[in-house]
Amino acid sequence: MDALELLLQRRSVSRLAEPAPSGEALDNIFHAAMRAPDHGTLKPWRFIVIEGEGLKRFSQLLESAVLANGGDEEALEKARMAPFRAPQIITIVAHCTEHPKVPIWEQVVSAGCAVQAMQMAAVAQGFGGIWRSGPLTEHELVREAFGCRDEDEIVGFLYLGTPQVKPVRVKAGELGEFVGYF
Ligand SMILES: Cc1cc2nc3c(=O)[nH]c(=O)nc-3n(C[C@H](O)[C@H](O)[C@H](O)COP(=O)(O)O)c2cc1C
Repeated sequence: MDALELLLQRRSVSRLAEPAPSGEALDNIFHAAMRAPDHGTLKPWRFIVIEGEGLKRFSQLLESAVLANGGDEEALEKARMAPFRAPQIITIVAHCTEHPKVPIWEQVVSAGCAVQAMQMAAVAQGFGGIWRSGPLTEHELVREAFGCRDEDEIVGFLYLGTPQVKPVRVKAGELGEFVGYF
């Protein structure tokens, strides 16, 4: 796929099924992530793959977090089902370090760039995905399960798999409102 075409046409896909990226395709996704811009070469990211039985464990984790929040049955069911929307989920943690020249926010942005690169690499190889987050990314039980230290942030969960629908192409949009010259 042409690189510019990929950039201009990228869409998220929420209906995803097997197969998920594996082997070389999955390695390519992580290598793309690690080419994200990274001030100070801090590599401020960690990737945790959830698939197979891991999806069930993730479902139980989300359910526990909602339960700890006093959520009702509807919220519990939503949390339980959430992980089964894709055959694979990658949790992306911004693994941050106090640094004299690189503030924490820059490190979180780098981790976000890594997520974008991963989605792009997935699409380039015929897969699809969607970056999701939600309030549970900040829940203590969830943070602990993914090894977050105080200075870390879960920047999202990248749901990956094979698209079950073809995303609608969209026009890039009018630039005037968003672009200025200094
Ligand atoms: C940090 C971040 C968190 C997001 N969290 C969610 C989410 O929890 N649920 C959701 O449906 N979309 C979420 N999105 C938006 C989708 O990833 C996606 O961009 C959106 O559905 C628009 O589709 P498009 O990427 O095809 O333009 C999030 C995006 C970002 C950047």
